[in-house]
Amino acid sequence: MAVKALKGFKDIIPGEVETWQFIEHTAREILHSFGCEEIKVPILEKTKLFKRSIGETTDIVEKEMYTFADRNGSSLTMRPEGTAPVLRAYIENSLHVAKPICKLFTIGPMFRHERPQKGRLRQFHQISVEMLGLDHPRQDAELMAMAALIIQRLGLTVSLEINSLGCPKCRPAFNKALLDFIGTIDDLCDDCLRRRESNPLRVLDCKNETCQEHYKDAPSILDHLCADCDSHFSEVKKGLDLLEVNYVVNSFMVRGLDYYTRTTFELITNDLGSQSAVGAGGRYDGLVKQLGGPAVPGIGFGMGMERLALLLQESGKAPQAKGIDLFIAALGDAAQERCFVICQAMRRQGLQVAMDLQDRSLKNQMKQAGKAKASYTLIMGEDELAQNRVVLRNMETREQQDITFTNDIENWCRELATVIN
Ligand code: HAM
Repeated sequence: MAVKALKGFKDIIPGEVETWQFIEHTAREILHSFGCEEIKVPILEKTKLFKRSIGETTDIVEKEMYTFADRNGSSLTMRPEGTAPVLRAYIENSLHVAKPICKLFTIGPMFRHERPQKGRLRQFHQISVEMLGLDHPRQDAELMAMAALIIQRLGLTVSLEINSLGCPKCRPAFNKALLDFIGTIDDLCDDCLRRRESNPLRVLDCKNETCQEHYKDAPSILDHLCADCDSHFSEVKKGLDLLEVNYVVNSFMVRGLDYYTRTTFELITNDLGSQSAVGAGGRYDGLVKQLGGPAVPGIGFGMGMERLALLLQESGKAPQAKGIDLFIAALGDAAQERCFVICQAMRRQGLQVAMDLQDRSLKNQMKQAGKAKASYTLIMGEDELAQNRVVLRNMETREQQDITFTNDIENWCRELATVIN
């Protein structure tokens, strides 16, 4: 029996790949326009990097990481997200020295052992962005505006939900208020009972309907922000208003990773069932220091490429596969031989060219040209070969022209390329 791919690991095949290229190309263009630079970081890291950053009591670290012992026994983990590896690289390469404000992005696969469903995979891909060095609220507004622009440029619509999770100064007072509130509920689910002890904020993210009903009356973190965090959040909202980015404040939004401080946000769609977050992120002002680097603030987000691709495909906005520039149909061995050389020379001119190497009938070769969505077909049969000419057919207008062939193939192809372009 044939060996199949792992559950939750998906091939992205030709026909789908064009959508992915479109997403990457669009994102790169916008990221560059904001001064972000691409960084490539390894997929495998030491497990402690993720434990220290994402948090020991998060779902990701407790249940979802692909962690295994290396041959020498040390614990390795396939990155479940991009922030920790990028920050590790930022610290290790002292990137803050040359660039006190450093804007980095990486695009690639992440791994989480979750239950696969529509829009949720075990290997998924993120566009992951980190802006380091500035805690100014306009940086937060700029980053969210950039995320919104990527979505808009892809032709999609999502809503931006924002919140502030405060800082180590104001979080304890909120945790206490939340714990007091939770203490009044007597039918919490097992997960919430556990989280109450280990990570109270996370109870607000519980999917259990009874718990959710209770939490509607939970205290709001926004009522517990210290003066600095409160004014930071007001300035973030003002920045978004200035840039005319629409948002809604959702004071119950908590994130599944522990490193966040102050601004957090999610880009939400109604079109993907329960996996509604197309992107998410926030500020993490203590994280670089916590990972052994300088005291540098930061903010970032991750966008799920599978979810973007699904939205594009389902809304009919996915780009169609482009056709090739030229198909070469040659009949008979001598014409085949000459066209074999022309084909290569046309590729040197930068054109996308295909030809049939099996000497099939003209009808069959024209069919192949149609399938390849060729703009032009060059036809050379025995007659054309004898008369030193080719027929060039415009596949859209069906107009045909005879072109005399010369022995200077390179020059001849250069001229033909100008006709085709
Ligand atoms: P996250 O919310 O865990 O944040 O993931 C960001 C995005 O990745 C999600 O909104 C979703 O679109 C996508 N995603 C997550 N898990 C899956 C999955 N199993 N299948 C498909 N897509 C998925 C982070 O990862 C943070 N590192 C974001 C960040 C960067 N915060 C600051 N900087």
